Amino acid sequence: MTEENITSADANSTNCCDEDSRRKFIVVSTLAVSAVCGVFPFAAGVTTILDPVKKSAGDKEKVPWTKVVPLASLSEDGKPAKYEIILEQVQDAWTTYKNVPAGAVYLTRKGEGVTAFNLKCPHLGCAVDYRSKSNDYFCPCHNSTFGLDGSVTDVKSPSPRGLDTMDTKVEGGFVWIRFQQFRPNIVEKVPLS
Ligand code: FES
Repeated sequence: MTEENITSADANSTNCCDEDSRRKFIVVSTLAVSAVCGVFPFAAGVTTILDPVKKSAGDKEKVPWTKVVPLASLSEDGKPAKYEIILEQVQDAWTTYKNVPAGAVYLTRKGEGVTAFNLKCPHLGCAVDYRSKSNDYFCPCHNSTFGLDGSVTDVKSPSPRGLDTMDTKVEGGFVWIRFQQFRPNIVEKVPLS
């Protein structure tokens, strides 16, 4: 083989490899873009489902009212009762979800008025228990205690604030609530954003 032939063969080989690399690059890029397009709507939907009150956070007027329970079913002696909050409808840009569990509350009744406390401890978010024996609330994770009015009762409690309240109203014989979650472990009560 002459030197000229060898040089020509090398050039062909280089062109061939360049072409292969280009093809591989196009295939990989196409797959990556497809994957991102497929995953993004799914991830956004999951985020909304996991945090259904997120969209309204920061503007209380935008938080929808949720019907919880008939007023008559609450004890008139102020004894707290625990209720799960199911949002009737949660919507994101693509889908409408029905009956979405959002959290839980303790409700206490005084006459026609109802107070709602978020079940989540304001320290790090564990579920708070109502203790009928001592008639108070207790968080078993790090031993925070709260009175029936939601305030911290033991100075050793690590919770930086009392239990988080939410707006309630009584309409048509039912208790309604504007359910919200709040930032844990800070003194101020700040809705999650
Ligand atoms: S999470 Fe309740 S005391 Fe820490």
